[in-house]
Amino acid sequence: MDAPIARYHEDGYLVLPGFKSGAEVAALRQRALAIVEAFDPGDRRTIFSTTDQARGTGDEFLASAEGIHCFFEEEAFDAQGRLKQAKALSINKIGHAMHDLDPVFDAFSRGPRIAALARALGLEQPQLWQSMYIFKQPGIGGEVKWHQDASFFDTTPGSVTAFWFALEDATRDNGCLWVQPGGHRGPLRERFVREGDTVRMQALDDTPWPDTASAVPVEVAAGTLVCFHGLLPHWSAPNRSPVSRHAYTLHATDARCHYAETNWLRRERLPLRGFD
Ligand code: FE2
Repeated sequence: MDAPIARYHEDGYLVLPGFKSGAEVAALRQRALAIVEAFDPGDRRTIFSTTDQARGTGDEFLASAEGIHCFFEEEAFDAQGRLKQAKALSINKIGHAMHDLDPVFDAFSRGPRIAALARALGLEQPQLWQSMYIFKQPGIGGEVKWHQDASFFDTTPGSVTAFWFALEDATRDNGCLWVQPGGHRGPLRERFVREGDTVRMQALDDTPWPDTASAVPVEVAAGTLVCFHGLLPHWSAPNRSPVSRHAYTLHATDARCHYAETNWLRRERLPLRGFD
């Protein structure tokens, strides 16, 4: 494991093909579809958009910190507010506490292998704050603009680490991740700040985002785990292809570091756990 870890520190990310078996991936996908099937949106139309932060940040967004909520794709509805395609093809993501509330997600998210990996990446006392099941739906899967995950999980010193599992092959066509290798050595550019029940993006540093020409696509097969540093700039394009690009992500910080009170994600009822 030493060589890949050295690579992680050099590049800010690490690609581990075949980390999950086909059966593990299938179990998680099946469970996610069951959650969507059981989800009755009623009049709720919570859209998740990173290009328009204010729309993804209603009460339901804040409540999802300790729950299991489905968020729609921005382009899911027509002008009359009706779904343009089946519900199962309209959801942007499920978030943000499945890893603590759902046994199938719990089993996928934890275990000795990922616990050892997290330790090797420097998380001595990992705290798993967030899980997201990202659908990147065919045709309407939205863009996720350049960002650094540390903007959403501010700790002192910095510690947030992302664990990104491909549940389907991720390609340039269906909106794979793009990263700036080594970009984790740059500054944190902005911080997503919560004050009471409102959130806003606060600018910290005007270092420009990488230009797309210098970005590297992370095209990976289903079952691959991509780990990346909280400061690594990354983005993903909209999915205009006919195939989805399901992925599952976990974000962990180190309990030895101070977790900012201004972070949007708070745990008031559900205890935090690590990878064990
Ligand atoms: Fe991200």
